[in-house]
Amino acid sequence: MPLTTTKELFAKALKGKYAIGAFNVNNMELVQAIIEACEEEKAPVILQISRGARTYANPVYLRKLIEAAVSVATIPIAVHLDHGDTFELCKECIDEGFTSVMIDASHEPFEKNVEICKRVVDYAHKHGAVVEGELGHLVGAQFDEGEEGGGYSTGGHYTHPEEAVTFVHQSGVDSLAIAIGNSHGAYKFKGEQHLDIERLKAIKKALLDAGLGDYPLVLHGASSVPKDLVVEINKYGGKMGEDTAGVPEADIEIARRTGCTKVNIDTDLRLALTAGIRKALFENPKEFDPRKYLGPARKMVKELVRHKLRNVLCCAGHAFD
Ligand code: G3H
Ligand code: 13P
Ligand code: ZN
Repeated sequence: MPLTTTKELFAKALKGKYAIGAFNVNNMELVQAIIEACEEEKAPVILQISRGARTYANPVYLRKLIEAAVSVATIPIAVHLDHGDTFELCKECIDEGFTSVMIDASHEPFEKNVEICKRVVDYAHKHGAVVEGELGHLVGAQFDEGEEGGGYSTGGHYTHPEEAVTFVHQSGVDSLAIAIGNSHGAYKFKGEQHLDIERLKAIKKALLDAGLGDYPLVLHGASSVPKDLVVEINKYGGKMGEDTAGVPEADIEIARRTGCTKVNIDTDLRLALTAGIRKALFENPKEFDPRKYLGPARKMVKELVRHKLRNVLCCAGHAFD
C-alpha cells in the first residue's frame, strides 16, 4: 500500500472516535517495533520524523526505512515531519514524499505564525501534502498566567478557543496542535495535575460552531511516562529523577473522545527502548553483540505500542475502515 495522508486517517478516526498514534522514529529498531505492533493490531499509523531525527539518521536512511515499512506492511502509514521549524525544511520533506508536515511557528506572534503556516499550506496543498500548525505554548500543567478567574485570555500560554478558529481560517492548516497543559518529555507535571479538558472541549466547540466541522486536533506531549519503565531503567543503572510524570491514560482517553485525533508519543518509546537495553546489558555484562540487547529492547517498544493501540488510542482493528 502506498503512503497515505493524515487527512484520510483523521476523517475515519473522527467518525470512529479513535485516535491515530503518531510515533517518533530515529532508527530501524523503532520503525520495526512500531510497524510490527500496528500490523499485528491492524491499526493505521503515523511515523513522524523530527529535524533531530533527520540529523541523527540522515534523511536518505530514514526514507529507505519508511519505504521498507510500506513494502512489508499492509496497514495505512502516513509520514509526517514533526516540529518543522522553517518553510525550507517543510518544503524539503514534501519534496521527499512526506505526506504531512508540521510547521511549528508557535513561538512567533499570532500574525507571523499565520503567515508562516499559510506559506507552507500553499506549497503543501499544491503537492498533495497536508499541514499541522500549532497555536499556544506547550508549557505543561502549570498555572497559565494569562488566566484570570478561569476565563480564557489571549495573553496566556494555552490555546484560546476563538483564536484557534481565526488561526485555522486564516492559515488554512489541516489540523491544529493545541496547548492545554501538555508538554514534552518525562517530567510533565508536578503532583496531581491534569490536562485542561474543559478548554479542549471549548476549542472543539468553537471550531464546530464556526463551521469548521469535526476539526482534527493534535495532542503533543502525550506520553504517559509509565512508572514501571522508569523503575526498570533505574533498577539497571539509570538515574532518572523521582519526579517523572506523564499524561494519565485516563486523560488521553477523554482527549481522544473529545477530538484529539492525532496523539504524539516519543518519550514512552525512548523509555521502553532504554529499559530494554539497560536490562539486557545488566543481565549479560559480557555481551557485546548489539542484536542481543537491541532485540529485547525492540520487543519492549513493540509491547508498549500494542498497549497504546489497544487500550489508549483505541485504533486497533481500524486499519481498513
Ligand atoms: O517533540 C519532540 C519530539 O519528541 C522529537 O524530539 O527533537 O529530540 O527528535 P527530538
Ligand atoms: P512526548 O515527549 O510526550 O512523547 O511527546 C512527543 C511529541 O509531542 C512529539 O512531537
Ligand atoms: Zn511535539
